[in-house]
Amino acid sequence: MDLEDLSRRDVLRLGALFGGTLLAGGTFMGCDSKSTPAKATAKGVAHQPGSGDAVALRTSDGPPPLVDRLTVTVVVDSYYDATSKTDKVGNVKVERTGLAHGEELPRQLKSEWGLGLHLASARADETRNYLLDFGLSPTAGLDNLNFLKLDIAAVDALILSHGHYDHFGGLLELLANHRNRLRDDLTLYVGGEDTFCYRFRVPDAGDPQSFGVLDRRVLSKSNVEVVMAQTPMVIGGQAFTTGAIARNSFETVQPAHRVELGMRDGVGCDSSHFSPEEKAGAIVPDKFWYEHATCFNVKDRGLVIISSCGHAGIVNTIKAAQAASGVEKVHAVLGGFHLLPSPEPYVAQTVEAVKALNPDYIIPMHCTGRMFARLAEDAMPGRLIPSTTGTRFTFGAV
Ligand SMILES: [Fe+2]
Ligand SMILES: [Fe+2]
Repeated sequence: MDLEDLSRRDVLRLGALFGGTLLAGGTFMGCDSKSTPAKATAKGVAHQPGSGDAVALRTSDGPPPLVDRLTVTVVVDSYYDATSKTDKVGNVKVERTGLAHGEELPRQLKSEWGLGLHLASARADETRNYLLDFGLSPTAGLDNLNFLKLDIAAVDALILSHGHYDHFGGLLELLANHRNRLRDDLTLYVGGEDTFCYRFRVPDAGDPQSFGVLDRRVLSKSNVEVVMAQTPMVIGGQAFTTGAIARNSFETVQPAHRVELGMRDGVGCDSSHFSPEEKAGAIVPDKFWYEHATCFNVKDRGLVIISSCGHAGIVNTIKAAQAASGVEKVHAVLGGFHLLPSPEPYVAQTVEAVKALNPDYIIPMHCTGRMFARLAEDAMPGRLIPSTTGTRFTFGAV
């Protein structure tokens, strides 16, 4: 049977199968010499909008692997405050990065529209390092990684949340001029085929404007293996991804985004991965079917869920992480929640829905917007932690 003929429910069931294959025996993608992981090479998913069922991770050990500790470093975000102080908020360690001085004065952290994170996790004496998204410009992400003394040679895997330029722009420079600093057997985990579609944003007035396209030939030329994490899977032995996020709440995708389903000049995405209504070559409203979130299960704390841009909705994202892992407790939710252009009633509804899921901490970044921060602080006093470029958040035992 061709995957394109499958309903979403059937596809997700099939996804569970892939998940089981991928995770059998506690597979460690790319870093465990003892195992050779199967790759998620399924041709694709004909997604249909609808309720959808999240796929639980299938491991011989039950829930996704516990980690003792996770440090998230904000490599690139839109906001930097040199005066923010290192602090402890509850049981989260929050380390800020101030200005450089002396000869280093001209070299400072760079902030820009976009997001790039470095994730360092540990279980006993095993550590893993990931780069999740890469910022927009060729320079900010890389310069900041150097400024923050984060060693890209120690990175175990790359993860891209979705195919928007403000998340993959910095990856191009990393691969073009610094590939030799990264491990040889490098894997990039993406959510699915639409990562490679031409993307557009629609201004208040006028035609759609290009928001970039990730040319997979660049990845191939750079000897980067691509894994489509369409369904939940463990990444690098310590992180896990939600896979495509089921839409099970009131949340809607912002209307200002478009996607072109098809190939042009050798670049783009294979339209057969999408529903028949989404025709080849058409520029249609972008539903971000394959956006995925990166998560960790932190010992004695619960889930840390990182949404990156959050087009699929932060409530949907949290629920997808819970469903994928079988872990209910949410310790922290980080990332862009994409509420910046939303009207106040919608943001207020989102705050209430997030509150009902009872996270210990919320760390809004990137495209979340100040309105969410204000309402969330009122609704959940003491649980909101501000983020700035250069901040290190450490969850778990420190
Ligand atoms: Fe985005
Ligand atoms: Fe974004």
